[in-house]
Amino acid sequence: MKPFKILEDLYYVGMLDPDRKVFDVIMPLDRGTTYNSYLIQAEKVAIVETVTVTPAAQEEFLSNVRALVNPKDIGYVVLNHLEPDHSGALEILLAQAPQARVVVSRSGEHFVKNLLNRDVQPLRMGDGDSLDLGDKTLRFITAPFVHWPDTMLTYLVEDKVLFPCDFLGCHFCDPRLYDDLVEDFRYYFRYYFDVIMRPYKEYSFKALKKLEGLDIALIAPSHGPILRTNPRQYIERYREWARPSEPSARKKALVLYASAYGNTRRMAEAVARGLGDGSAEVEIFDIGQGWPKEMLDKIEAADGLVIGSPTFVGDALKPIWDLLSSFVTIKVKGKVGAAFGSYGWSGEGVPLVEQRLKDLKLKVPEPGIRVVLTPTEEDLTNCREFGRRLAQDL
Ligand SMILES: Cc1cc2nc3c(=O)[nH]c(=O)nc-3n(C[C@H](O)[C@H](O)[C@H](O)COP(=O)(O)O)c2cc1C
Ligand SMILES: [Fe+2]
Ligand SMILES: [Fe+2]
Repeated sequence: MKPFKILEDLYYVGMLDPDRKVFDVIMPLDRGTTYNSYLIQAEKVAIVETVTVTPAAQEEFLSNVRALVNPKDIGYVVLNHLEPDHSGALEILLAQAPQARVVVSRSGEHFVKNLLNRDVQPLRMGDGDSLDLGDKTLRFITAPFVHWPDTMLTYLVEDKVLFPCDFLGCHFCDPRLYDDLVEDFRYYFRYYFDVIMRPYKEYSFKALKKLEGLDIALIAPSHGPILRTNPRQYIERYREWARPSEPSARKKALVLYASAYGNTRRMAEAVARGLGDGSAEVEIFDIGQGWPKEMLDKIEAADGLVIGSPTFVGDALKPIWDLLSSFVTIKVKGKVGAAFGSYGWSGEGVPLVEQRLKDLKLKVPEPGIRVVLTPTEEDLTNCREFGRRLAQDL
């Protein structure tokens, strides 16, 4: 991608990566991505974000920068967070521009030193701090955990441009690069939020509060389209997704189980009945048959998660682990958790699930219930009591 002008004195110097198939290991891509980098041609030249670590990206980025300025004239390199997809060309840029000062948030200093493994002295910006570029001004808004602890957002005051890095970005590569010219990218915009921002959505909500009242003419994120068509609409979408859910009158519990022969299923049904007796609102899902795409929303809204698995080959079943591994994209800390299941001879499934729930910082008030093979009437009564007690803990 050749550099191009966005506004008078503001240029795109990033790179397209249309063929990338997976991002950060956790995100399969089908429209590739872009590493957006911006050059502000003020009296003191500033670059906001670099590109990723691959030699091809670094080379293209450097040649884009060189097409516009002599690297010796670069005053500042702003990195809103230090993840290598945006800081990956920092070292190679600094080699050409040793006089440039790296600009990070206060907590970014530790990361930049560990990224470069040398004692760089970055300029550290606090919330509301400004940096004078001569004829232009950068202002910084700290946004911790959006989605790294060191994240800040950068605002170019005179042109009303917000550089939010990953915030408001998406993995979507269309060389036309402006939101009004590219194909419909709404799905990708949401997908990015769901995987990257959602685990820390209360922090996103705080960051959005800081953007209230800020006059924004253009949002220049670090992945995907540049947002110039009523940029507030994107902020509003984030606000909707990040808004804390209203506490409901009745406590909600989910019973999620897998069962090959129906033993764990019968236990699940009894636990669910007990939760209902305790006046919790209960939904029950056989996870072994897959789960609906709203499942993560349901889990997020639930006060209690009761997980049932038999033991197969010394372990809980794979669909249960798959489900538990998806908990990392939402906040489950503090919810009530419990485990149950049928087994044949060793019964590891229940304690393993229980441990995982504890590791994810759920409250586990009751030891899990295990039954050998077919649950008796008495076992089912115990399961129902177990559910009833859990309802009180919600
Ligand atoms: C392939 C297979 C492997 C199993 N491995 C174990 C095991 O390692 N330890 C154990 O306690 N039970 C094991 N079992 C027994 C099941 O846990 C037991 O049949 C249980 O009641 C099944 O519950 P379900 O009806 O909910 O599927 C195994 C069963 C099968 C079919
Ligand atoms: Fe990131
Ligand atoms: Fe990123």
